Amino acid sequence: MKIHGPNAEVIARIDWTDGLATFRVRPVGWDLPTFTPGQFANLALPAGEAWDTEQGEAVRRPYSVASTPGEEHVDVFVRRVDDGELTPSLFDLQPGDGIYLEERITGHFTLEGAQDAEDLILVGTGTGVAPYRPMILDPSTRERFGRVLLFYSDRNSEDLGYLEEFRALEAGGSHFRFFPTITRMRDDEEWSGLTGRVQQHLTPAAYEALTGAALDPARCQVFLCGNPQMVVEVRQALEELDFKRHRKREPGQLHMEKYW
Ligand SMILES: Cc1cc2nc3c(=O)[nH]c(=O)nc-3n(C[C@H](O)[C@H](O)[C@H](O)COP(=O)(O)OP(=O)(O)OC[C@H]3O[C@@H](n4cnc5c(N)ncnc54)[C@H](O)[C@@H]3O)c2cc1C
Ligand SMILES: NC(=O)c1ccc[n+]([C@@H]2O[C@H](COP(=O)([O-])OP(=O)(O)OC[C@H]3O[C@@H](n4cnc5c(N)ncnc54)[C@H](OP(=O)(O)O)[C@@H]3O)[C@@H](O)[C@H]2O)c1
Repeated sequence: MKIHGPNAEVIARIDWTDGLATFRVRPVGWDLPTFTPGQFANLALPAGEAWDTEQGEAVRRPYSVASTPGEEHVDVFVRRVDDGELTPSLFDLQPGDGIYLEERITGHFTLEGAQDAEDLILVGTGTGVAPYRPMILDPSTRERFGRVLLFYSDRNSEDLGYLEEFRALEAGGSHFRFFPTITRMRDDEEWSGLTGRVQQHLTPAAYEALTGAALDPARCQVFLCGNPQMVVEVRQALEELDFKRHRKREPGQLHMEKYW
């Protein structure tokens, strides 16, 4: 794609681990549009070493917005893919560096289409937790769903960005329940929480034991985001329990966003 220069800048970054970071990006000379929690922004960087003002060759990728609407910046929570086209250059950026942020923030992976329910079940692997943060922080989510339950996995505990924030939110009341799970626990790792892939905790028996209520399409809406194989496998398992994919004209309980 053709982009001839930056229109935004990185104003801060949090490095959770060596290859996992949150980048805070602010438009320069224009205002961020409003957006709905769950939507994504497109970021782009030059395809070569520097901005190519003549040819404008650039690499663009979508990122779920991890921050809440109404701020002057967007946060994106990103895993570096070592042989990827965009993320190695993105991880070279420091506060003050330029970046291109597409002016339109878009996407259908939002709570707007979902029917109100007793349990809103949010399932994310890796950076797939990003769109859930603004959904969880949105006060209207509390009005529409009896409880919000976040199932979030990565390989090790240090890979779980926002872990402490989600733990603090859970400690703050009974509406939000948090189920982080790690899949490659090291012998020396200090972790007393759940282990194993998310689907292990989303069987009817495991869900009921963890949450005290039934994993039933009559009372639950489910969002799946991140690793595409996880999305496929959890979808298949839930379809066996009569959950149906949500479509605009045919409302169901399963909402999905695959990252690749
Ligand atoms: C709607 C949407 C929202 C997205 N939101 C995010 C986000 O919030 N954070 C984020 O890090 N990525 C997100 N992605 C993925 C992102 O757009 C890029 O594909 C990713 O950053 C890799 O870009 P790249 O150019 O470095 O690698 P590419 O050259 O595009 O290589 C792609 C390969 O990288 C791997 N990969 C891609 N994304 C991830 C990931 N998130 N975690 C682990 N491995 C991955 C896969 O093996 C994939 O085949 C999203 C994708 C979509 C479609
Ligand atoms: N995460 C890291 O620490 C790390 C470090 C260096 C390089 N990388 C590279 O980054 C790329 C992406 O790896 P990633 O670990 O970030 O992303 P990922 O493969 O999507 O893994 C993130 C989480 O999703 C889980 N997962 C993967 N497939 C699943 C499925 N089918 N069903 C349910 N859960 C599933 C993983 O569990 P499992 O552990 O069981 O797969 C892990 O808990 C790879 O190329 C990897 O080599 C990652």
